[in-house]
Amino acid sequence: MTIIDGKALSEKILIEIEKEHSELEKKVGRKAGLAVIIVGENSASQIYVRNKIKACERVGFYSETIRLDENITEENLLSEIKKLNNNSNIDGILVQLPLPEHIDELNIVNAISAEKDVDGFHTTNIGKMMIGDESGFLPCTPAGVIQMFEEYNIDLKGKDVLVIGQSNIVGKPMTLLLIKKRATVQVCNSKTKNLSEKLQKADVIVAAAGSPKLIKATDVKEGVVIIDVGINRVDGKLCGDVDFEEVSKKASFITPVPGGVGPMTIAMLIKNTFKSYKQKINKSK
Ligand code: GUN
Repeated sequence: MTIIDGKALSEKILIEIEKEHSELEKKVGRKAGLAVIIVGENSASQIYVRNKIKACERVGFYSETIRLDENITEENLLSEIKKLNNNSNIDGILVQLPLPEHIDELNIVNAISAEKDVDGFHTTNIGKMMIGDESGFLPCTPAGVIQMFEEYNIDLKGKDVLVIGQSNIVGKPMTLLLIKKRATVQVCNSKTKNLSEKLQKADVIVAAAGSPKLIKATDVKEGVVIIDVGINRVDGKLCGDVDFEEVSKKASFITPVPGGVGPMTIAMLIKNTFKSYKQKINKSK
C-alpha cells in the first residue's frame, strides 16, 4: 500500500513555481497577485483562506484578503469584484464559498472576469474544460487529484471509477477530467441505491461526500485506489470520508486526511494564478 503524499507533491509544485516566478518578476517588475474575498465568519472558510494566503506568501506572490460583512448586499459584493477585475496588479480573484443565502453564487462567480477566475468556476472556464480548451482554468481540487494520479503513475484508462458527490466544485468537474483520462465513470450521491455494492466493484474511488468515515473496509475490494476529498471535523479532529485505518489495509494507493487532497487544491490555485500572470505578460508583449 502506498500513501499518496499530497503535502510533498504540493511542496514540489510550489518550489518550481517560486523559482520560475522570481525570475519572471525580475523581468516584468511586478509579482503575480491573488485577491481572496471572504464574506462572513464561517470558521472552516477562515482556515481555508488563511492557508491560501500563506501559500501566496510562500511562493512570493502579492496577495490581498478582502473581508466583508455577512450582511453585504449582492450589489456591493459585485462592485468589489468589479474593482478587482480592473486592478492590473491582480491576476487571480477568488470568492470563498459558500456565500450567505441571500447572495446568488452563480451571479457572483460569473461576475469575476473569466481571465482571472483561478478557481475555474466561471461558466466560460467550465465550458472550456468540457471541450478540452486548455486556455482556461481547471477547478483546483479535481485538477489536484489528476496531478496525484499522474505523479504516482496511476493509469485510469478503462478503469471503473466511482465518484461520490456531484457538487460544482468537486464531483462534476472531477467526472469530466476522469472521462478525459478514458476512465469509465459512475457518479453517486446520497440517494444512490446499493452504494456498497457499487463501491465493491470500483477500481478507483473518489470520495467527496462530506460524510465522516462513510467508506469502510468491507465496502471496497482488495487493491482499490482511494482518493479522499472529504474534510470533516469530528470531536475537534480532521477526518475524511474514508475510514483510513481500516481501508488502507486493502488499498493499493490511498490519500490521507489531512495531507492528501487539501494541499494539492492550494497548489493548483497557485498554479492557476501563475498561469493567469503569464497569460497577461504574453498578452502585453
Ligand atoms: N469552498 C470550498 N472549496 C472551495 C474552493 O476550492 N474555492 C472556493 N472559492 N470556495 C471553496
